[in-house]
Amino acid sequence: MNSPLLQNTIVIGMQWGDEGKGKIIDWLAQDAQAVIRFQGGHNAGHTITTLRKKLILHLIPSGALNPECQCVIGNGVVLSLQALNTEMAMLKENNIDLAERLHISLNCPLLLPSHEVLDKASDSIGTTLRGIGPAYEDKVARRGLRVGDLLDEKFFCQKASDLLDYHNFLINHYYHQKPVTPNRVIDTCLNLSEKILPLLCDVAMRLHEWHTNKKRLLFEGAQGVLLDIDHGSYPFVTSSNTVAGNAAIGTGFSPLQFNQVIGVCKAYTTRVGEGPFPTEEHNTEGEILRQKGEEVGATTGRQRRCGWLDLFTLRRMVLINSITEIMLTKLDVLDSFAEIPVCIDYSADKTPHYINLPGWQIMTHAVNRYNDLPTQARGYIEYIEDFIGVPITVVSTGKIREHIIVRHSDPYLAAEDQR
Ligand code: GDP
Ligand code: IMO
Ligand code: MG
Repeated sequence: MNSPLLQNTIVIGMQWGDEGKGKIIDWLAQDAQAVIRFQGGHNAGHTITTLRKKLILHLIPSGALNPECQCVIGNGVVLSLQALNTEMAMLKENNIDLAERLHISLNCPLLLPSHEVLDKASDSIGTTLRGIGPAYEDKVARRGLRVGDLLDEKFFCQKASDLLDYHNFLINHYYHQKPVTPNRVIDTCLNLSEKILPLLCDVAMRLHEWHTNKKRLLFEGAQGVLLDIDHGSYPFVTSSNTVAGNAAIGTGFSPLQFNQVIGVCKAYTTRVGEGPFPTEEHNTEGEILRQKGEEVGATTGRQRRCGWLDLFTLRRMVLINSITEIMLTKLDVLDSFAEIPVCIDYSADKTPHYINLPGWQIMTHAVNRYNDLPTQARGYIEYIEDFIGVPITVVSTGKIREHIIVRHSDPYLAAEDQR
């Protein structure tokens, strides 16, 4: 394997999530000593497909299938004990052993069942209904519980009881729904924490130690930059910062130590949930993308909305995130089109302007050498690269690890090539 990985690398989604981060990170992790999640929660659904199985990870980093890779959940992740236990059990059933290699920050905000009730009662934008927004609300309001609070049972019970009283007040009097039973929630947390407590640590210090020992660290983003709470399509966004800058905040790793930011970008665009999507196609072309791309949500099973690539927005996001290179996924999904529109500008009333690039109408599925791609497919890739100003170093042509084209194994050389 000849991955382009440098020492401390951030990988983020460049659109509204589901760009294929799971596949790319699993592949890159073959060369990394640790993969670290820094934001989001079990709203994420990162799919890893092998010849034998398909696994969907929600909280556990996508390095899990590499037995030598450490898996870390940083302080920026909102943690549901229930979801984490279920996922650990699922991996165990699949003979994936996480013993000694799963590390969880003491400072992760706890996501409680009552957060899920509040999310369901208040949702107006089509969230994943996992309780993510309400859990982040409590964190920012400084009333939330942290996973480290579980180490002191008496303190935990008191703090949880106060918080659940507050949640029940909202659930009952504001949303007119059935309240949760505080003692049951607290007991469940205590039971579920049994397997988690031994995994808690000071993640920031552990990462610094690994860095000093020259380990290669891979920081795994969830969602995508257009779902960022500050830079995305507010209010139709998630409740965390999904941009690269949050990799430092969500882990405690030093901002100056990152030297590579990889943007994972689908060769077209999808979105789950409500909100603006200017390049969406409501016609047969959108349907072809959905069918061929199997665009169904990995977490909620909802159909994904589909449309063309928005290069104008992508270029802006390259700048906001210091993207050093793009890894382009799902190129094979575009195989059947005679022409492929890409958005290059917007008019004052926000109507997208397109240029039509020639399609190739030849199967690219599983192609793993750049020169084996049809000329028009290479033209498509090179047009994007020229437009956004950073190299596309890797192209994915199918679900499994082997369906990948490595164009440049050194992104800095690639950048030189561009000039
Ligand atoms: P993530 O949330 O960014 O990890 O992406 P998801 O796992 O939610 O969705 C991506 C979907 O596309 C998954 O079903 C992957 O197996 C699949 N996928 C990833 N890369 C490719 C590719 O290059 N071609 C095709 N056809 N499917 C891909
Ligand atoms: P991955 O990591 C796609 C979307 C939801 C909704 C909005 C807010 O698999 O790319 P939330 O539950 O976070 O409060 O929902 O964000 N959303 C995602 N869309 N992929 C995801 O994760 C998503 N996580 C959240 O559909 O529109
Ligand atoms: Mg996903």
